[in-house]
Amino acid sequence: MTVPAPFASALPPASGPRVLVIVGGSVAAIKAPAVLRRLREGGAQVRVIATSAALAFVTELSLATAAAGEVATDRTWFAPRPDAQHLTLARVDAAVVVGASADLLARAAGGHASDLASATLLSVRAPVLWVPAMNEQMWTHPAVQANAERLRGWGHRFLGPVVGAFGTAGEGAGLGRMAEPEEIAGAVLALLDPPTSPQDLAGLHVVVSAGPTREYLDPVRFISNPSSGKMGFAVAEEARDRGARVTLVTGPVSLPDPPGLTVRRIETALELRDAVKEAARDADIVVMTAAVADYRAAAAQTEKQAKVAGDVTLRLTPNPDILAELGQEKGKRVLVGFAMETHAGIERAAAKARRKNADFILLNYPTREGTAFGSDDNEVTLVRPDGSHEAWPRLSKREVARRLLDGARRLRRGQEAAG
Ligand code: C5P
Repeated sequence: MTVPAPFASALPPASGPRVLVIVGGSVAAIKAPAVLRRLREGGAQVRVIATSAALAFVTELSLATAAAGEVATDRTWFAPRPDAQHLTLARVDAAVVVGASADLLARAAGGHASDLASATLLSVRAPVLWVPAMNEQMWTHPAVQANAERLRGWGHRFLGPVVGAFGTAGEGAGLGRMAEPEEIAGAVLALLDPPTSPQDLAGLHVVVSAGPTREYLDPVRFISNPSSGKMGFAVAEEARDRGARVTLVTGPVSLPDPPGLTVRRIETALELRDAVKEAARDADIVVMTAAVADYRAAAAQTEKQAKVAGDVTLRLTPNPDILAELGQEKGKRVLVGFAMETHAGIERAAAKARRKNADFILLNYPTREGTAFGSDDNEVTLVRPDGSHEAWPRLSKREVARRLLDGARRLRRGQEAAG
């Protein structure tokens, strides 16, 4: 298919890394145009192959428009043409299979060349990233897992599937949802420009909460706090750069979505709880940096409350303690909390770690200048449930994140070794 005229001006630059995007036959194929757009925004030149099954879910026109270029299909492969299309398309710097189906995995793992996608995959020598999307029963079947393992053995990488809502009506939620377009594009761009950080969190799912929550009294008034989200975003970005799959659940902050991770924006503590608990189902490390409001209105008003003469009394009710709830079903997850204390910090933080069943708590001091709320630096003390602790000097929030994840990774390794 040729480029639709109105989009010709959006043709990709002739330079920039070349990325082959293979779109597989899954309902998640409808996200492929967003992946193509993100890759182009990231400076890549994209080439697209859509399998015949993919075209049942996403149109050639929307792919061509998002790619600002031709879409290769089995039809174009078998059409008379001057080149062997599966060889031309294989000359790329990275390849990604979006909406990878069990069948396409099987064809690639079996070395088939019966269609353009499989034949091209046999010819690609650049890194290949698979982004599967299929229901949990199919993904966990030994046949599919064996195929994925075989591909991994040849150096292919995998992103997801993740836990979440997916599929056509009625399939509901579970493991099987495809990773989000930003995360896919971020992972592909990272393949092209390998990070210098050690990839010591590869294969782990890290869930981070960040920012404040808002507890509405009425539609226009709320209780909140000045948390900027910077600490949580630093943890999420550090985890991503060290190879983890990252879900960042954040309250209202002015920071943009970091590329290469899944971001869920929420407002209230109850929404935070739902989003964190859903993401935590398959998490290895959960870091609660969010400054969760302790209370919400006992009865939030649906209409704006008019001003009245004299004092008013607010009736508040406690919010659930999300970290403590996660601690009750801890499993092998490593749980990390943050606490702000103005006095008796270490004892209070250790008691909190015990009560919430957290592996450690980073204690920070809201009254120290240049640290905590809104600042780029932080001065924290790592406190364990038994009261042992390490005071760290004043560091950038990114450096605090690095040390925090070092500690969490060691604990995770210890728990794996313990079986
Ligand atoms: O508020 P507190 O000092 O108890 O917070 C300590 C830790 O617990 C923090 O990591 C915070 O994110 C978490 N927390 C929570 N749910 C709450 C309150 C705090 O998960 N309702």
